[in-house]
Amino acid sequence: MKRFTLALLMFGLSLMASFASAQVAPPRPPRQSNGLALTPPMGWNSWNKFGCDINESVIRAAADAMVSSGMKDAGYQYVIIDDCWHGARDSNGDIQADPKRFPSGIKALADYIHGKGLKFGIYSDAGRKTCAGRPGSRGFEYQDARQYAAWGVDYLKYDWCSTGSQDAKSSYETMSDALRASGRPIVFSICEWGKSQPWLWGETIGNLWRMSGDIYDGWESRDGHYNGMTNILDMQVGLESYAGPGHWNDPDMLEVGNGGMSFEEYKSHFSLWAVLAAPLIAGNDLAHMSKETRSILTNKEVIAVDQDALGIQASRLAKNGDDEVWVKPLKGGGRAIVLFNRSKQTHKIGVTWEALGYPATLELRVRDLWSHKDLPKAHGSFAADVPPHGVVMIRVEA
Ligand code: GLA
Repeated sequence: MKRFTLALLMFGLSLMASFASAQVAPPRPPRQSNGLALTPPMGWNSWNKFGCDINESVIRAAADAMVSSGMKDAGYQYVIIDDCWHGARDSNGDIQADPKRFPSGIKALADYIHGKGLKFGIYSDAGRKTCAGRPGSRGFEYQDARQYAAWGVDYLKYDWCSTGSQDAKSSYETMSDALRASGRPIVFSICEWGKSQPWLWGETIGNLWRMSGDIYDGWESRDGHYNGMTNILDMQVGLESYAGPGHWNDPDMLEVGNGGMSFEEYKSHFSLWAVLAAPLIAGNDLAHMSKETRSILTNKEVIAVDQDALGIQASRLAKNGDDEVWVKPLKGGGRAIVLFNRSKQTHKIGVTWEALGYPATLELRVRDLWSHKDLPKAHGSFAADVPPHGVVMIRVEA
């Protein structure tokens, strides 16, 4: 009996102890965003045009052209070196730039870019190697983040090659924590290609996440290239609720000016990326771009739609065969509308106020964002002839 009482007492005490320790451990505070990229990031990245064929003059020329072409003035900020800048790690494990391609070093390049009033971005990978086989950050996350901060990095694109069985969310969380511990505000671009649905967990870890494989500079998939412009567009349907200030779906970098699409198609690409509130990261040769390319990339009225402070990603309001209507609500009650024609003939495409959530009787002002003209005020609906593979992009407001 005595023994039983003792056992009961011990059991009670251990219960109390575990209860007390459960009380002591403070609950983990919910993860917070880093407070950056409240509108979609804008900039330029070396990959789409130059691939691995980069060096410090290519990057400097891009920074120079970003200023002289009016891109900076239109809102582009980040000059981002993609894969292939890396050399080896030194005896301390610190990552070095490739001494042949970047003889002046990364710090000097960052200083040069900052000296032009621009920001500087770099690329690494969550695995042991980058997609082009350079050293990845696996196991060196904090050391690399410290190095980037010391160099003056403002943006990190973090890829997903050579990751084996790594868990995506925790791998990106580790680098996200490392960047914050570095003490420098660094926009974090998750480049995991949508494999582990980063829109479900990326909001407080990064600022943007790819949701597809690499974009192909073409209207649609062809010859084993899967992600033509319209294919990536289709993948955005249903993801719109995950985007917002500080955390964006990333349909990949722009191909405008790289030659695989027509002028009309590139206008569609740019207009659609803008209503999607996509990061606008140009991927062409800025130093040698045509007037047409420049006129697309620097269309400030279209850019203003992308950069609208509400940060709402457009939904596809209607799809009728090749005719589509994409709508992005704007701050102040207006809407940006892209009438999109996928066919090879001109189509008349329209939208009613009721479908847009306005009273049918409302008179709305209509602004054409490509012709830069106010159109006649409209009552109840708007329709326009849309060229083949083209768009008519308007902003309506009361
Ligand atoms: C992956 C990325 C691309 C680019 C390359 C570089 O494919 O998705 O955007 O960064 O790697 O090797």
